[in-house]
Amino acid sequence: MENKIQIVFATGNKHKVKEINEIAQGSGIEFILPPEGFDPDENGKTFAENSYIKAKEASKLSHNLSLADDSGLCVEALNGEPGLYSARYAPTAQERIDKLLKNINDLANRKAKFVCAMTLVDKDGNILNQEIGECHGNIATKQAGTNGFGYDPIFIPDGYEITIAEMPESLKNTISHRSIALNKMIKYIKEFIIDR
Ligand code: IMP
Repeated sequence: MENKIQIVFATGNKHKVKEINEIAQGSGIEFILPPEGFDPDENGKTFAENSYIKAKEASKLSHNLSLADDSGLCVEALNGEPGLYSARYAPTAQERIDKLLKNINDLANRKAKFVCAMTLVDKDGNILNQEIGECHGNIATKQAGTNGFGYDPIFIPDGYEITIAEMPESLKNTISHRSIALNKMIKYIKEFIIDR
């Protein structure tokens, strides 16, 4: 059996852990959920700061190498909204989609990007590495598809004519902001932690 290094992935979102383990397949790394009680105060002013807050909290609880991401959707014509507030834009996932479609309404500029910042900390919470991934595209005029999560049903990545929620997850995982950041992070982990 392959001997994998385990890294805590600082999130309460099981879907995210599944997604990043799929992206990390074959890397020799297994990401696991943080222990019970993981509830960081995400009060940073940037995606990178928030990912550090989450990673530090997970390492404090687990005494283990910990990785965190912080991500969101930034819409150009809405001055980068919902951005850092993507998860808190409205109470439910459907209400967040409805609010965004209403706010962008019939604006011609529908350019948007998903951004993902990742921070890896050691077991004492010291930063080892930070990476950023971006996925550029446009906001659809109406929602479509049921795969993925969050704003996937209204985001059409550049080079495609379907939303991320209409794609198989295997395709999302080759183009997403999270996969871009994670692949850079995996390269770092292999070079500076596993192969050391
Ligand atoms: P988090 O704080 O990194 O968990 O993400 C903040 C919010 O951004 C999520 O609750 C989603 O609404 C949105 N988001 C982040 N990544 C994605 C994605 O891959 N697809 C759709 N929405 C996402």
